[in-house]
This record gives sequence, structure tokens and C-alpha cells, in this order.
Amino acid sequence: MLSRTVGLTLVNLHSKLYTSPMIEKIADIAHNCKHIVVLTGAGISAESGVPTFRGKEGLWGKFRPEELATMDAFMSNPEIVWEWYNWRRELMWKVQPNLGHDAITNLENLSDKFTLITQNVDGLHKLADTKNILELHGNIYRNKCVSCNTIIEETVEIQPDAIPSCQKCGGKIRPDVVWFGEMLDEQIIQKAFEDSEKSELFFSIGTSAVVHPAASLPVAAKERGAVLVEINMEATPITPIADYFIAGKSGEILPQIVALIKEKRSI
Ligand code: OAD
Ligand code: ZN
Repeated sequence: MLSRTVGLTLVNLHSKLYTSPMIEKIADIAHNCKHIVVLTGAGISAESGVPTFRGKEGLWGKFRPEELATMDAFMSNPEIVWEWYNWRRELMWKVQPNLGHDAITNLENLSDKFTLITQNVDGLHKLADTKNILELHGNIYRNKCVSCNTIIEETVEIQPDAIPSCQKCGGKIRPDVVWFGEMLDEQIIQKAFEDSEKSELFFSIGTSAVVHPAASLPVAAKERGAVLVEINMEATPITPIADYFIAGKSGEILPQIVALIKEKRSI
């Protein structure tokens, strides 16, 4: 992939990369700590071409979540809900992880202990080969029964006019994502809090930090003593408590941090 090659070339060409003192400092902390946790939101996938939810071009500016992402919407109009999810599945299926996803995988490989917590349902972190992933809001390619929650194998497209039924109970099949008003998987969110609270360095990347419980994770980490780093194009409600806030694109900032850690490791 061209973008990955460009990233590598940059690292090879310059023995000492130009970066800001803040990025230097963050790389130093990462180099010296044992447990790193990264929380991502839609912003990490924006450079891959996946639309975010909020902001000018966001999905929630064009569509009404209560008509598409709630159990009530599905029960009263499952065809429309499936049409929307098929559109999103197709869009996400076509795109590739970007330099930000790749940098997170590199960060995992450079860390003693590493947890990636994502609110994204696009599967791009897995495609980028990150291993220890907690998907808080499910996965858009997985299906489940609306009544008994049985997980059904991955299917990219469900025919909206012929939605399959669960073989166990006859319930309609829905995407295995968390909708508004629904609880997150208890084990996954519990593990996310446990790891966040144990972390020494916590990155909040590309999330508007307004949807809970995900938005409580950086706060919990910070309260237990973690250094909190935020990377986002704009400030969010957690910016005031962040130790370092870097305004910029994750696909540009993260590779710089990783390159500096690698440089420190090779000294
Ligand atoms: P949002 O759309 O709310 O926020 C995306 C954030 O990414 C914004 O703060 C942008 O400034 C930032 N951003 C955009 N491009 C970026 C880039 N290249 N680099 C860094 N940051 C960038 O998305 P989330 O916070 O993920 O929930 O939204 C949280 C949840 O709300 C989603 O998981 C979804 C939604 O409703 C469910 O579907 C349950
Ligand atoms: Zn069922």
C-alpha cells in the first residue's frame, strides 16, 4: 500500500525526525512505561474514508439516530434499518486501515502490555493487525438474533425484504452493534475499565468523548494516575483534564510518536 511505504520511507530517510517537544515528551513516557491503553473513536477511521458521527459531515447531521439505531426503529421498520446498515457495511468493506491504525499496531508491538479499546464497529483495527482489541459497540459485520441474542455468522449483506430468522427462536436477525438505549457487553466494558485504571499511559484518539460509558474511561484512567494524552482535530470535554492535547490528524501524529519510540529503543 502506497501510504504505508511513504510512512516507512520517512522514518528511514531521517535519522532524527523533526517533531514537536510535546510529541518528544509523549514518546519518552511511552518508551518508559509498561502498560499503555488506547481508546479510539470514529476520528481514527476518518482518514480511511469512514464518516464520523458528529461535526459538519457527520452521519448524525444527515440521519436521525432514533430512526436507524434503536430497537424501536428496528421493530417498527426493520427494512429501513437494514438498508442503512448494508450501506454502511459496503462503505466500510471498501476501505483500508490508515497510517493511524498501523501506528497503533506498531505501538502494541513496542509495548509490554497494551489494550486497544474502540468504539468503532468497522473492524479496521483488526485488519491493521492489532491483537488485543475490546470492541465496545460491537462489530458491524456480525449479526445476532433480536430476541435471544444468539450470534449469527458474519454476512456482508442481508436482503432487507427477506430478513432471515433465528433458527433457535424465530426472532429477526439484526446487526450486532450497540444501539441507543442499549447496554454494552458487561464483560467487555468491565475489562475496559480494569485495563484503563491499571494503565500508566492512556491515549484518547479521534473521539468526541461525549458518549458514555466510553467517555468515562479516560477520566477513570487519569484518576488512577495515568498520563492522559488526547489526539483530536478539536478540543473535547476531556481536553481540560488531558496532560497533553495534540490538535491534528491521528494518521499524521501517531506515526511520529511511534517513530520516536523506535528510535529510543534502538539507542
Ligand atoms: P464522533 O463522530 O462523535 O467524533 C469523532 C471525533 O474525531 C471528533 O471529535 C473529531 O474532531 C475527531 N476527528 C475527526 N477526524 C480526525 C482525525 N483525522 N484525527 C483525529 N481526530 C479526528 O465519533 P465517536 O466519538 O467515535 O455510537 O462517537 C461515539 C459514538 O457515538 C459512536 O461509537 C457511535 C456514535 O453514536 C454508537 O453507535 C453506539
Ligand atoms: Zn433467537
